[in-house]
Amino acid sequence: MVYYIRFLKPPIWVKKRKAKGMQYYIQSLITITNDLGDQFMADDLGVTLCFTCVTHPQLQIKAQQLDEWGPTDRQVPIEMGPFSASMVGDGQFNFKAQALDISKDRLKTGEAPLVVAAFSAPFSKKEPAEKLVERQFYVGDEPNERFKIWEETGNSIARHLWDAALASIMFLHDVTKGIDVGMPALNQLLTSPRSGPLQIVELGSGCGMVGIGLTTMVENCNVLLTDMPEAEEIITRNVNQSKPKANSGARYQSLDWNEPPAELCNQALDLILVSDCTYNSDSQPALVSCMQALVRSSPEALVLVALKRRHESEAVFFDLMQSAGFEGMHAKVALPAQNAQTDEIEMYCYRRAQEAL
Ligand SMILES: C[S@@+](CC[C@H](N)C(=O)[O-])C[C@H]1O[C@@H](n2cnc3c(N)ncnc32)[C@H](O)[C@@H]1O
Repeated sequence: MVYYIRFLKPPIWVKKRKAKGMQYYIQSLITITNDLGDQFMADDLGVTLCFTCVTHPQLQIKAQQLDEWGPTDRQVPIEMGPFSASMVGDGQFNFKAQALDISKDRLKTGEAPLVVAAFSAPFSKKEPAEKLVERQFYVGDEPNERFKIWEETGNSIARHLWDAALASIMFLHDVTKGIDVGMPALNQLLTSPRSGPLQIVELGSGCGMVGIGLTTMVENCNVLLTDMPEAEEIITRNVNQSKPKANSGARYQSLDWNEPPAELCNQALDLILVSDCTYNSDSQPALVSCMQALVRSSPEALVLVALKRRHESEAVFFDLMQSAGFEGMHAKVALPAQNAQTDEIEMYCYRRAQEAL
């Protein structure tokens, strides 16, 4: 299980009157939880947190603050300073909170971070930071190719990143590099030369990490990111800052699994992406019938499902997929967990069985 540093209170400048005159301090409140927000980081060794200014190198030395996160901690208040008014000026600042022993959040098998760093939204003396956090990932072996995704600091399901999205990116990266992941049809789809763009739909995209991530790895692909309307703003923000490969791109359309739009069901699709959408057994029938409707006009389409099992009741998903005529191949992605353990995200690649067509 991966842990995410979160800003319970995004960084702000606070003014205090001191003997030397008016001085400025940065204050923030940080926590470290899992994707669901129901478990706190409780490593026996603790994590050393480092809070650094990424925009103003001249503040770097003063701005470094180290705090131990202990096994029983729930939140860590941060206060840094004093800084003089001339040092702070009217400029915008971005701050980063990271575990000291993890320099880059690399999404690569065996190297994924146990604790994901948090980058604040910009803030100044006049404007506090928005209640957002940016994640910056490095995919595969690319030394400098950053892949950035914003998520909200609050408790929304849609506007958050989930472990399965991290695992999906690691998995898709291997597939696009031609590594045998036990799903030859998926390898072929994402690595073979093609005349037209791949047509891809992601269901329940959340912040859009998986679909947007794919456009940064594969040329010539159109990804339609879909979710409930509440996800539109964060997905659009992430699409707008993405750097897709040549002739690739992502866009957003609202789509409720209970009412997939007819024009999408009649459109030719190559791949449907689904990451961490099977957590609620009550919504699984709608999810599966939505997938069924989408592949009706695209019998060769593949469906890649990433899932993290949280309850036994979720297993009904496999029965529903079988009844809907889908046949799947199975693989696993290991993510780090506490005490040097690993956690498994299950990956399934489905296609309609011939007799179901
Ligand atoms: C746990 S989040 C996963 C988000 C993202 N795929 C990820 O892995 O980071 C589940 C997503 O499914 C979406 N969702 C739930 N019910 C839905 C429905 N009936 N129609 C469309 N999206 C739905 C939620 O809004 C949420 O974004």
